[in-house]
Amino acid sequence: MKARRIVLLTAAVVLSSTACGKGSDGSLLPTDDSVTAAASPSKPPSKAKTPPPDGKALFAQHCAGCHGIKGDGKGETPTERPPRDFAKGGFAFGNSREALFRTVSKGMPGRSDMQPFENRLSPPERWAVVDYVLTLVPQRSQDWMAGAEMRVDDEARCVWGKIPSLKKGWPEIPRGLVVGLPNGITLVWGREPAYRQAVLRGAFLKRSDWGGRGGQALELRGEVILARKPRTASPFLADGEPLRSRWRSASTLGGDRAVLRYELLDEVGPVASVTDEVAPDQDGWRRTLTVERAPKTSGDLVFTLAGPQDSGVALEREALVFSWQGRPTLRLSVENGRIKKRMERFVLPVPSGAPSRIAWRVQRLRKRSDRVEETR
Ligand code: HEC
Repeated sequence: MKARRIVLLTAAVVLSSTACGKGSDGSLLPTDDSVTAAASPSKPPSKAKTPPPDGKALFAQHCAGCHGIKGDGKGETPTERPPRDFAKGGFAFGNSREALFRTVSKGMPGRSDMQPFENRLSPPERWAVVDYVLTLVPQRSQDWMAGAEMRVDDEARCVWGKIPSLKKGWPEIPRGLVVGLPNGITLVWGREPAYRQAVLRGAFLKRSDWGGRGGQALELRGEVILARKPRTASPFLADGEPLRSRWRSASTLGGDRAVLRYELLDEVGPVASVTDEVAPDQDGWRRTLTVERAPKTSGDLVFTLAGPQDSGVALEREALVFSWQGRPTLRLSVENGRIKKRMERFVLPVPSGAPSRIAWRVQRLRKRSDRVEETR
């Protein structure tokens, strides 16, 4: 049991690269406004006798061990998840100077190697080190970091945060993952369970959740083309029972696709690990799930595509057609498998043998009067 877990963990660590965010438990948003209270960096100290702290030297002393002297994440201290290359820009937990100050002060939520520095460095020292980190971030990233408006250019992007309610009467998703693809498609995952909850098209998102006390929802900027009421059960069923999920990482690997990794668990422990890869495909996307079962697990494993709560989904000639607000919007066809109907669900069986791969394409169905207004 323990051995299984270790094997999966190691695999996840080796495979993850530029992590978009945390996969562990705990609040995504530190909500302590003492950060704001301490935030008056430009005010000169009343007795200006001590020289201002040297951010570069402090970075070398306190951060470079993990982050590398150039901030490229290639420090000597081994970490469970590799620290990002600052030159790539775009931080998972907020990009503004204030947000970075918060990250450095409070650390990253959950069990991260990125520890809080509030007891080790004074506020002026933390500001100095943050300003130094910002010199390592390219100008282009800083431009979009300055405003909270986030865009997707030629690289996919993933952002963790609170997802607003997508339809009147639906709850918000307290913790979710938003993946933006370069073709203007935005996909939203819930974190527990790992479940794709919505699809949007158009501009990406605005994040204002780092202002004030945090905890505000992300502002999704695109047009919703499909959404489902936030789910509490995983789309993966083992012998008919939904599994729990545990995120490992979400990364973009610097290309146009995003790679999400999570584990599936039953009451006993890990049942399988999943690599969920999403890539743009014309004006839709292609999704490939690679499922690696834990040793000694067998039995029936299926991925549910739609269930009784989903309105407007129909099986038409080997493909599923999804409707949103009465209009067919998306068409899903499986590349290496067949959609089956079991009870009230459409399912994709995960073939046994390790690792199994299921892939499908989703095309966007255009409305007759289709004029996408982009708000970029
Ligand atoms: C013990 C290793 C370690 C030390 C020391 C360390 N960090 Fe980190 N840091 C990490 C890791 C690992 C991550 C990636 C976190 C993750 O994904 O869990 C990270 C992430 C970050 C991030 C990115 C947060 C985001 O929103 O994506 C910033 C900024 C950062 N560190 C700044 C600093 C600064 C400044 C210092 C020194 C004051 C420092 N770190 C010291 C390991 C370290």
